[in-house]
Amino acid sequence: MAPQDERTAERTPGPWDEAPDFVAHWVVKTARRREMTEWYATVFGARVVHEDSELTFLSWDHEHHRLALIGVPGFVRFLFPFARYRRKVYGVDHLAVQFLSIEKLLDTYERLKGRGIDPVWAINHGPTTSLYYEDPDGIRLEFQVDNFPTIEETAAFFGTEAFEKNPIGTMFDPDYLLARLRRGDDPADLLVPGAGTPPGQKPRTNKKTITWKTL
Ligand SMILES: [Fe+2]
Repeated sequence: MAPQDERTAERTPGPWDEAPDFVAHWVVKTARRREMTEWYATVFGARVVHEDSELTFLSWDHEHHRLALIGVPGFVRFLFPFARYRRKVYGVDHLAVQFLSIEKLLDTYERLKGRGIDPVWAINHGPTTSLYYEDPDGIRLEFQVDNFPTIEETAAFFGTEAFEKNPIGTMFDPDYLLARLRRGDDPADLLVPGAGTPPGQKPRTNKKTITWKTL
């Protein structure tokens, strides 16, 4: 099995007896159940696999459910007015989902842009090229593609001097990267840090990439 097939199959064979086989789902208490359901339907093509007066279960692939939404009364939102900002300072920051090619990632970027859904951060981390989005409740999702052909090569990047010098990465302009893909550039070239910096611009790197929006 090629490494990417193993990744797709999720239950990757290996000597990790104590580890779970894969991440199955997450569950969110939300006062915006309809809005959340529509967002995931648009973004991941999610389908409702169960819905009742309190719960919505969604899936977007072979799993029986990937996301469950537990409805809470609307007033609960007002008890936690800063809930969507909490992740900027404490607790779970984001969930990362994998795309197996830069073409698929950029196709998704283009499709979502057409629906008025834009990333909050576009950054080449070194090991991955990542677009960060936030769902209607402010839960952050990283859409990532590995920058190297194998998991081993991507993992090896963590040991390089380049990663030591710049562990956060290099921001990119997704429109420019998309334009490069559409004009026929080799997709592998788009995964190099700086590949998404338009000519004449200076790339924003490492800690300079952190702003209130991207934090
Ligand atoms: Fe991440």
